[in-house]
Amino acid sequence: MIPVILSGGAGSRLWPLSREAFPKQFLQLAGDHSLLQQTLSRLPSDRVSAPLIVASNQHRFILSEQLAAIDCEPRGILLEPFARNTAPAVAMAALQIAADDPQAIMLVLPADHQMKDEDAFRAALSRGEAAAEAGSLVLFGVLPQGPDTEFGYIGSEPDRSLPDGVFRVTQFVEKPDRSAAEGMLSQGSHFWNSGIFMCRADRYLEELQKHSPDIYDTCQLAARNVWQDLEFCRIPAEVYEHCPEEAVDRAVMEKTDRAVVIPMDSGWRDVASWATYWESQVSDDQQNVVIGEALLEQSQGCLVHSKDRLVALLGVNDLVVVDTRDALLVARRHRVQEVKGLVERLREEG
Ligand code: GDD
Ligand code: MG
Repeated sequence: MIPVILSGGAGSRLWPLSREAFPKQFLQLAGDHSLLQQTLSRLPSDRVSAPLIVASNQHRFILSEQLAAIDCEPRGILLEPFARNTAPAVAMAALQIAADDPQAIMLVLPADHQMKDEDAFRAALSRGEAAAEAGSLVLFGVLPQGPDTEFGYIGSEPDRSLPDGVFRVTQFVEKPDRSAAEGMLSQGSHFWNSGIFMCRADRYLEELQKHSPDIYDTCQLAARNVWQDLEFCRIPAEVYEHCPEEAVDRAVMEKTDRAVVIPMDSGWRDVASWATYWESQVSDDQQNVVIGEALLEQSQGCLVHSKDRLVALLGVNDLVVVDTRDALLVARRHRVQEVKGLVERLREEG
């Protein structure tokens, strides 16, 4: 099984800590390791080979440094000249793997997750291998906590032809609106998509060719023209720029009829926004979370992240305050999803 690590996202909802030049997968949000390093370290070393990492050219030095720090020697580092979202990133990895062994199993992993129970994660993986070898796209589903609109939703049903603990996927809806999410939750048979999946390289490529031929064709062409530069494998910009930008969830998972899902009860969490970060931390008796230096008086439900300066809050509730050397965010905790829009505006206004 070959881990394919997707490490090319922008993570803009964690601005101002996550920056274009240093996105969230490289941040140490909890503990001594970054989210990327945690992703690699929790893999079952007896079952997986060296990982293939797909990342942005812009981050190649941070990436190399973080890999070296945990003694990780990857099978390869594929560098994208610019982000085209996850369907092309997985395609480039699949093409490289399939050139050696078309039926090799890829374990695709986002690099922005936390997991409390790593044994449960590894147990779920081992349940998926046989189904992946038989040609299924094996998704890992998480019990939904509420009608969150930032996740994919997987509808499932039992199927006697599948092994125990593996369910047929009846529906996949990427980032539904709130009422659709509520509707699916009320059926009681849906999971959140963890974003982790396992399949044969040839099977991913077949499904991509069938459902998103433009991405498939462009990536085929790009793969014929990748070139080696030191330890990096570079994807040619003049081809990749023509690649449609699409998430694997929409390009393949919403359309395929070859998906199965394995429930994964591993305390999984996508550190998607400051609100999820606040939820993931231990709070004090006023539900405040403080990372760094802060003094809070008559304030509740706040998150303060400040490593360089003392932050004082008085008489305010449900605020997120993230202070860095050159930027300060103050936002209502319930509106932090909108930080992404703020970052887009900053980028447009230069
Ligand atoms: N190489 C590469 N290139 N990696 C990318 C790119 C890209 O263009 N875009 C995103 N990634 C990486 C991110 O760094 C992250 O590790 C992973 O791919 C997933 O991308 P996100 O942008 O974080 O996706 P999401 O969180 O909005 O949605 C996905 O994950 C959810 C669970 O966390 C989907 O799979 C949802 O269905 C799922 O519920
Ligand atoms: Mg994510």
